[in-house]
Amino acid sequence: MLESFVKFLDQVIVRGKIPYFSALKKIVFCLWPLAIFAYFFINSNFKDYGELGWSVLIAVMLIRPLADVFPDLKILRSLVILRKEFGILAGVLIVIHSYGYFHAKNQNLFFEIFNPQYWHFGHPFLWGLLGFLITLLLLLTSNRFSVRLLKRHWKKVQLLAYPLFFFSAIHIALVKKGEAMEVLLPVLAVSVLWAMARFKVKISVLRNQLNEERRVE
Ligand code: HEM
Repeated sequence: MLESFVKFLDQVIVRGKIPYFSALKKIVFCLWPLAIFAYFFINSNFKDYGELGWSVLIAVMLIRPLADVFPDLKILRSLVILRKEFGILAGVLIVIHSYGYFHAKNQNLFFEIFNPQYWHFGHPFLWGLLGFLITLLLLLTSNRFSVRLLKRHWKKVQLLAYPLFFFSAIHIALVKKGEAMEVLLPVLAVSVLWAMARFKVKISVLRNQLNEERRVE
C-alpha cells in the first residue's frame, strides 16, 4: 500500500505525470466562464474576486521560474503547461473585480478610466486601473489569432504580466495599508525566483537527497 503510494508520488512529482492531465486542463479552462456566471447570478463581492485573482496571478508568476530553478521536479514543468488557462482565469477574476467595484456604485468602469481624480501616483485606483488595462490587453491577445498577428512581438506583449503583477502589488499595498507583508512576500518570492531563473541557477533537490542517502549508508 505504502509502496504504491510512494510510486504514485514519484510518478506525479518527479516524473510530472499528473493523472487525467488533459481533463484537468479542460476543467481549469472552464473556470473563467464559471467565475462570470457566479458574479452575475450569485450575489458575490468584488473584493473576493480581487483576492482570488491576485492569488492565481501569484501562482502564474511563480510557476515558470520555479520549474527552471527546480528542474528535477517535473511536476512543475507539467504545471507550466497550465499557465495559459490559469492566466486567463486570473485575468477574468481581475476584470470582474475592477468592473465590480464601479458597478456596485452604479458607475461605469470605462468612463471612470478618464476620471482625473484617480490619476495621481498616491491613489490606489491609478495602480488598479493600470493593472486592469494591462489585464485587458493580455486577455485580448491570449488567442491563436493574436499569436499569428503579432508574431515575434506577441512574447513582448506577454511580458506585460510583470508590470501587471507589480502595479497590482502597489494597488493592494495602498488599499490594505496595515498588511504590507501580504504583498511583500509574493513580490519578494517572484523577484528572487525570476532572478535565479534568469541567471540559470539550478537547484537539484533529488540528487542532493540521493547523495544524502548514500552518505548515510
Ligand atoms: C479599476 C481597477 C480596480 C479598482 C477600482 C479596484 C478597487 C479596489 C478597492 C476599492 C479595494 C478595497 C476593498 C476594501 O477593502 O474595501 C480593492 C482591494 C483589492 N484589490 Fe482592487 N481594484 C482594481 C484593480 C485591481 C487589480 C488589477 C488587482 C490585481 C490583482 C486588484 C486586487 C485587489 C486585491 C487583492 C484587494 C484586496 C482585497 C481584500 O482582501 O480586501 N485590484 N480594490
